[in-house]
Amino acid sequence: MSELGSRKGDHIDLAISGNVGFRKGTLLDEVQLIHCSLPELHVDKIELATDFLGCRLSAPLLIAAMTGGTERAGLLNLKLAEVAEQAGVALGLGSQRAMVKTGEVNQEIAASYRLRQVAPSIPILGNLGAVQAAEMSTSLVSEMLDAVQASALCIHLNPAQEMIQPGGDRDFRGCEDAIARLADELKLPVIAKETGCGISASVGHRLKKLGVQHVDISGGGGTSWVGVEARRAHGDKVRQGEEFWDWGIPTAASILQLAPLQFQTLIATGGIKSGLDVARALNLGANLAGIARPVLQALDAGGQEGAISFIEAVADDLRAAMLLTGSGSVKALQEKPRLIGPNLQVWKAPL
Ligand SMILES: Cc1cc2nc3c(=O)[nH]c(=O)nc-3n(C[C@H](O)[C@H](O)[C@H](O)COP(=O)(O)O)c2cc1C
Repeated sequence: MSELGSRKGDHIDLAISGNVGFRKGTLLDEVQLIHCSLPELHVDKIELATDFLGCRLSAPLLIAAMTGGTERAGLLNLKLAEVAEQAGVALGLGSQRAMVKTGEVNQEIAASYRLRQVAPSIPILGNLGAVQAAEMSTSLVSEMLDAVQASALCIHLNPAQEMIQPGGDRDFRGCEDAIARLADELKLPVIAKETGCGISASVGHRLKKLGVQHVDISGGGGTSWVGVEARRAHGDKVRQGEEFWDWGIPTAASILQLAPLQFQTLIATGGIKSGLDVARALNLGANLAGIARPVLQALDAGGQEGAISFIEAVADDLRAAMLLTGSGSVKALQEKPRLIGPNLQVWKAPL
């Protein structure tokens, strides 16, 4: 198997059973939603449906980018796609780097990302690292997205992971130009996405100037990608990975940083475990919440039924939180007041 393929296998194994969570939290528990004892709502009439990239999702949820590129990853992708289609939520593909490694689209590898036959109606998000995007022409990126009938391209920003990853990228110059070029020239929307370290207000401003309208802050508090790479590393990178394990901006803090910038879509991924977490993220200003590792773990433990039950429980908790705050719609929830604890309050200043 190629180095890329065996790395993906390690990532899946570590995400399922390795102890690779952040040791610090998302700070979402610092968001106190205000209880409403007089909701005047019927729980079955609460509207979770949300528009995203021209599709109507049954809840504001996304199974965040995970995998692709090998036979095992392709099977996982098919299962995740069936789950997402049945649950009516969006789906992110893992990095598509493996399918364009040779400078052209490799149709055999592309098959592991091709999911439209089982997921015809949901948004499917393509995925590429910013460093790889900088090395590719717009027409090749476009071909890569067409090959899987993607609805958008996530460009992932993951310098912390790369710093610890054996053989990871070390040169991050040229990514701004690549993002601006792709945002301008691609026919599909570009989503700038972190992978668990969050996005600050200043980076958010830079992304906006580059023409990006959609962001996934993917903040700290869930899967630690520094942690994943520390588990795979040798020698001094193990020590460095331990030292930087919790590096990043917690998910709640990153939402606070970016909410004032009024992106068209603000996705909150990173450590989202329940519908109450989703409710808090939406209330802070997100439009959608993304979940990666907990969905993979639910799929591993209980098959597709397990993953669907997990997503349904998240939607159910969200519905309960909406009723209990007196919010009939996502928009109403976003407008409700909240109390913010001191550890999150400090992140309110744009940084
Ligand atoms: C097994 C696995 C593989 C991942 N691969 C990618 C990837 O290829 N591209 C990407 O942008 N993010 C990738 N991620 C990061 C997630 O999309 C997400 O940003 C991060 O794990 C935080 O979410 P979580 O705490 O819900 O896991 C991966 C996550 C997991 C668990």
